[in-house]
Amino acid sequence: MHVLSIVVIQGEKLSTTIVLGAQWGDEGKGKVTDFFASKADLVVRFQGGNNAGHTIVVGDEKFALSMVPSGVMYESCTPIIGSGCVIDFEVLKNEIETLNGKNIDTTKLKLSYNAHIIMPYHKILDELIEDSLGDKKIGTTRKGIGPCYGDKIQRKGIRIQDFLSEENFYEKLKNNLEEKNQIIEKIYGGNSINFDEIVDEYKNYKELVSSIADDTSLVISNSLKENKKILFEGAQGTLLDIDHGTYPFVTSSNTSAGNAATGSGIGPLNFDEVVGVTKAYISRVGTGPFITEQENEIGDYMIEKGAEFGTVTGRRRRCGWLDLVSLKYSKRINSLSQLFITKLDVLSGLEEIKVCIGYSFEDKKITDYPLVDEILDKCEPIYESFEGWNEDISGITKYDALPENAKKYIEFIENFSDVPIKYISVGPERNQNIIR
Ligand code: GDP
Ligand code: IMO
Ligand code: MG
Repeated sequence: MHVLSIVVIQGEKLSTTIVLGAQWGDEGKGKVTDFFASKADLVVRFQGGNNAGHTIVVGDEKFALSMVPSGVMYESCTPIIGSGCVIDFEVLKNEIETLNGKNIDTTKLKLSYNAHIIMPYHKILDELIEDSLGDKKIGTTRKGIGPCYGDKIQRKGIRIQDFLSEENFYEKLKNNLEEKNQIIEKIYGGNSINFDEIVDEYKNYKELVSSIADDTSLVISNSLKENKKILFEGAQGTLLDIDHGTYPFVTSSNTSAGNAATGSGIGPLNFDEVVGVTKAYISRVGTGPFITEQENEIGDYMIEKGAEFGTVTGRRRRCGWLDLVSLKYSKRINSLSQLFITKLDVLSGLEEIKVCIGYSFEDKKITDYPLVDEILDKCEPIYESFEGWNEDISGITKYDALPENAKKYIEFIENFSDVPIKYISVGPERNQNIIR
């Protein structure tokens, strides 16, 4: 059934490796996970839901995965959705059907009994809350992520295991609906939702969910004992982390490395490498501070050349120069051990390339990412300037073959961030990579 597993395999040594976004998401985690997944036995998603959009390009085929871990592309790999994730059944079912339609086998997929379900009222509330915020809106993906995690933290959520027990499901749904309908109608003026309609719809998911539900913590732990290679695929990015990101303009889960342990149910001593994925510039979808944003022809150039439109919502991404202050912060939060730089090809053709090496705040230079909003909001970028290059680098596979100016740029990032840049991506395709 699996036609894609014969494609050239490029990944290197792999033990337990976390791949995560070092910026505000959309760094190319899908492509990077796919790159490593060729050598992995398991690929685990540990947080987020279908707010994620991870793109993998194989020849003429483009896959946009939002819930199924990117390792699904390889027959040898077991994809696992951990307890830290939130699941929209309709999206998951459609994604599985789309993959099957493209001859990708999904029968090994496993879903944690403890993952939480994104219910119809979560999606309605995400819309209503966003709309009520006016110019203070977060710019969420409106997929119900925040309200679902909110219920989880308030201990009202409905988990996969609750759904599988009809009695539990009906009781929890009834209790939730009593409260949610009041909020929807009385606070936001929306339309209430009906118990029977949800029950009818959710009957369609029972067979699928019961076939994939498992104690995924145990599955992962047993695989570790057998020295299996495990890849942990982060969603969103460090600056969208609920604790360490640009709160409140963040997502509702911990996107940083620590959650690879909690969100999959294994301890923190099990990880060998943390690969931070960062674009050679930076982008953000949604509202919130963005110190190096280029709302000018440079930003337009990045958006057009980098095709910077959201995978999930189709929104135009905001773009700007690479921010090394935030990259250093990302190193600290995640203990990054390697960097995978993506989209270097997008910078070809720019006369000058800038990179932010500090912030200026009230005439002082700041080099550590400021946590206090009142400082962050007043920071101006301090740039180091580099000469650009004109060559098309999208076919280059050897570091030495890169233009000298591109190498200077890469080496500057490496020295400043103090994280080895082991891989550079120069195009969306699976094999457009430079391994150093
Ligand atoms: P993710 O959410 O981190 O997986 O990233 P997305 O898939 O949302 O966005 C990254 C986009 O950049 C996708 O369209 C990828 O196909 C594309 N991409 C990834 N790496 C490269 C690269 O090195 N060069 C170019 N031009 N595109 C890339
Ligand atoms: P991947 O995994 C980029 C952003 C939204 C919004 C904020 C909160 O593809 O990198 P949410 O719907 O999560 O409550 O929205 O987070 N956001 C992302 N931005 N990439 C993503 O995922 C994102 N997932 C959420 O735009 O600003
Ligand atoms: Mg994305």
